[in-house]
Amino acid sequence: MQVPLATLERVHELRNQIDQHNYHYYVLDDPLIPDSEFDRLLSELQELEACYPELITPDSPTQRVGAQPLEYFAEVLHKVPMLSLSNALNDQELEDFDRRVRERLEVAFPIIYAAEPKLDGLAVNLRYESGVLVQGATRGDGITGEDVTQNVRTIPSIPLRLMGSGWPEVLEVRGEVYMPTAGFRKLNLDALAKGEKTFANPRNAAAGSLRQLDSRITTQRPLEFVCYGFGELSGGDLASTHSAAVHKVAAWGMPISPELQSVAGLSGCRRYFDAINERRFELDYEIDGVVFKVDSLQHQRSLGTLSRAPRWAVARKFPPQEEATRLLGIDIQVGRTGAITPVARLEPVSVAGVTVTNATLHNADEIRRKDIRVGDRVIVRRAGDVIPQVVRVVPQDSGTREPEFVMPSHCPECQSELIRDGDGVVLRCSGGLFCPAQRKEAIKHFASRRALDIEGLGDKLVDQLVDKGLVESPADLYLKLNPELLAGLERMGPKSAKNLCDAIEKSKTTTLARFLYALGIREVGESTAHSLAGFFGNLQALTTAERETLLQVPDIGPIVADHLYTFFRQQHNQEVLDDLLAAGISWKEVDQPEAKQTLLAGKTLVLTGTLSRPRAEIKEQLQALGAKVSGSVSAKTDYLVVGTDAGSKLDKAQNLGVTVLDESGLEALLRSIGAA
Ligand code: IVH
Repeated sequence: MQVPLATLERVHELRNQIDQHNYHYYVLDDPLIPDSEFDRLLSELQELEACYPELITPDSPTQRVGAQPLEYFAEVLHKVPMLSLSNALNDQELEDFDRRVRERLEVAFPIIYAAEPKLDGLAVNLRYESGVLVQGATRGDGITGEDVTQNVRTIPSIPLRLMGSGWPEVLEVRGEVYMPTAGFRKLNLDALAKGEKTFANPRNAAAGSLRQLDSRITTQRPLEFVCYGFGELSGGDLASTHSAAVHKVAAWGMPISPELQSVAGLSGCRRYFDAINERRFELDYEIDGVVFKVDSLQHQRSLGTLSRAPRWAVARKFPPQEEATRLLGIDIQVGRTGAITPVARLEPVSVAGVTVTNATLHNADEIRRKDIRVGDRVIVRRAGDVIPQVVRVVPQDSGTREPEFVMPSHCPECQSELIRDGDGVVLRCSGGLFCPAQRKEAIKHFASRRALDIEGLGDKLVDQLVDKGLVESPADLYLKLNPELLAGLERMGPKSAKNLCDAIEKSKTTTLARFLYALGIREVGESTAHSLAGFFGNLQALTTAERETLLQVPDIGPIVADHLYTFFRQQHNQEVLDDLLAAGISWKEVDQPEAKQTLLAGKTLVLTGTLSRPRAEIKEQLQALGAKVSGSVSAKTDYLVVGTDAGSKLDKAQNLGVTVLDESGLEALLRSIGAA
């Protein structure tokens, strides 16, 4: 069939527009048009290509969606080998590297280095011919890799063809495919929910996703790419320094690290390393160090390569986050709501500079799945400020192992029966506030900073108070304690006893939302507590509310409504409430209008789709409440507000686990904080 000229032109125009929008959305993180409009452009192109299949080219933006599964990966020979990096594990080794570079080059002045984070993913080679992506390959052994073209095509930030002009005829771009931390967590949560195997870390998840024979699976995985180097280059040149070359391909639409910097000499390298190390856990992705490369490409050539690693580059690694140690025992911890968590007691081991003696084992299923037994050597991981975890067992050489761990049937603290939660995974102590462990946790929660904020009432002190029978409920803090009594406790002097009594007194003036949160009702976190306070305005209305009324509160579903309803109908809870009020806890019944300006402080919202009010108006309102309104969804987004015809932002938000609100949800949120 003859393709009409006008169709040909339209297809060309659509592809250009879509590429442009893709680039703004995925690489610059700064979309130009609403998602719905983008989706319309894409479906128009799909329809035209369906009518005229002969127009389909591999670089068409419709070709990202995943193709027929492969039986195996073809081999790819890397003409320019993909090298590895030598490591500098401490500052001395970095200093040695810099000295060797200067000695070989016979220069006395400080070397300019290009500095980049060392991403923890897997290296790939992307081959562009005449600006079109023709092949994607893994590093493999550096000489032969696997052809993963179909899979790299599904990564939205990788351009299927380069923008602009002036690219070398053959251009091989190298870089790292990685999975951002938020996407990784979501992937594992979904896998857990489905009873599937989880990935040990984002690196494995990225590798497992890219090395899928079925690219329709890859397309569902949140993969990203950054360029940090080059392979074969012919029919054109890039630049005379590494950083200029990287910036050049960035101008052609290639994602590069926003952290790329040129630094001068050893001192510049050290400053960069320290600065990145400081921010390491604020980044959206995992890194295991930074890479320094001699920036001058001429200098790189004269330094050359030693065995498999270039002499002009070094990876300054962070201390490892994983270490092996021995599992000495498994303790059972009882949480505030009675949830039972098995905790690994470990032979003390230093992980990234911190001594770890305990790590969470999550639940019995997890212990069984990982086949963890007392006495095993295990790998412990500690990343940022998260609780250390036991990742896996180190294969043992001897055949004799302890028997499988069996969960107790009764609470180790109060001997009440343990019962399975609704979802069957969590075990819970049925003792309620009869259980001293739950009692302690309830009081700790009540006094915590975001609840009634009683300064100086630390965990150890609460343990003592409960163990000695001095305090049984939060109300006892107000009714039974006095400076003389407190001064008699371990590690308490008259001065700190007096300070604590003052802090307890001060905590009596609070807000309804804090008070509700402090009660520790199941599933009632800070934001639910805010919604409840905003909706009911006073405690009486809430404690007497029927289930149906509770369900009217924004964000409250049947489960939370049930927890609330039951909580307020239990005699002993009612008594605690009465006691607390009698002790003098109070709050202002209405929000003060001047407080409104900060109600959404620190929250980031994104608006998408067609909304019933002008977007600018909503944006202004949100900003007046202290929120940030951003153009694109990222792991930092708190809420995505969707109108009709929402497009890819909704998918992205769902992938990242961002809370999605429709317009009535937004109104409800505003109402719940007293702003509507
Ligand atoms: S450059 C010739 N730069 O680290 C140098 N590699 O240990 C070749 N990596 O296989 C690599 N971030 O997977 C370079 N900014 C970065 C990197 C990086 C991560 C990985 C890459 C490579 C491995 C070498």
